[in-house]
Amino acid sequence: MDIRIFDTETELSRAAADLAAEQAKEAVSRTGRFTLVLSGGRTPQGLYEQLALPEYTERIPWKRTHIFWADERCVPPTHPDSNFGQAEKAFLSQAPIPLDHIHRMPGEAARPEEAAARYEQTLRDFFGAKPGDMCPGFDLVILGVGADGHTASLFPDGPAVVEARPWVTPSPAPDGAQPPVTRLTLTLPVINASRFVLVLAVGAEKQAIVQQVAHDPFGASRHYPAARVMPRGELAWFVDAAAAPASRH
Ligand code: 6PG
Repeated sequence: MDIRIFDTETELSRAAADLAAEQAKEAVSRTGRFTLVLSGGRTPQGLYEQLALPEYTERIPWKRTHIFWADERCVPPTHPDSNFGQAEKAFLSQAPIPLDHIHRMPGEAARPEEAAARYEQTLRDFFGAKPGDMCPGFDLVILGVGADGHTASLFPDGPAVVEARPWVTPSPAPDGAQPPVTRLTLTLPVINASRFVLVLAVGAEKQAIVQQVAHDPFGASRHYPAARVMPRGELAWFVDAAAAPASRH
């Protein structure tokens, strides 16, 4: 597992934006398009702000980029808690990306089950997958991690983390989760089919989980969904100094 430690959150965000630009270039030269999956929460905000800068408008082939979400809160897209709304405001509205390349999860649907089924169909149509096919995988998935070890909306001991067949599933918010609304999430097999997964962790409250994942990944995977992110392709964790694992000496 590749863990890179950055002195500041700004350096981390910049390195994440550079990685996105490199993966985009590589994917477009290989397949003609770049599939990028976003998350919500506070951590990716710095990355999103970098992506709004003119430098990345030039470096990222936006016209060939398709945007998806790893998870969403069951709220309308204009709601302040919407993960789509966050990214839209931070950079999507400024990037020269065709509107039909933005594939958001329908958080406003009347029932979470219906929303999950609709998004799964969106993904299946995009990839041209037949019923029963596994997801062929995205080029780059950006994830955050909670202090409880959740990632996307895969919560420890929650029903979503053990889902193997659906590509997308509803996930009830555990007690204390903010905001306290049901989520929609990609399932682990879909995340793990990716070519590259980048996990971002910032702040001292993430240190214990980063420490366990770094020093005992298989032990950690019994408890923490974030430690079960083991993609077919590459995995990197970018952490700031406060979240960095202590050395073993
Ligand atoms: C969300 C997420 C979630 C997030 C973690 C970390 O929609 O909230 O996708 O998995 O990445 O909860 O959140 P912070 O970055 O706010 O600490």
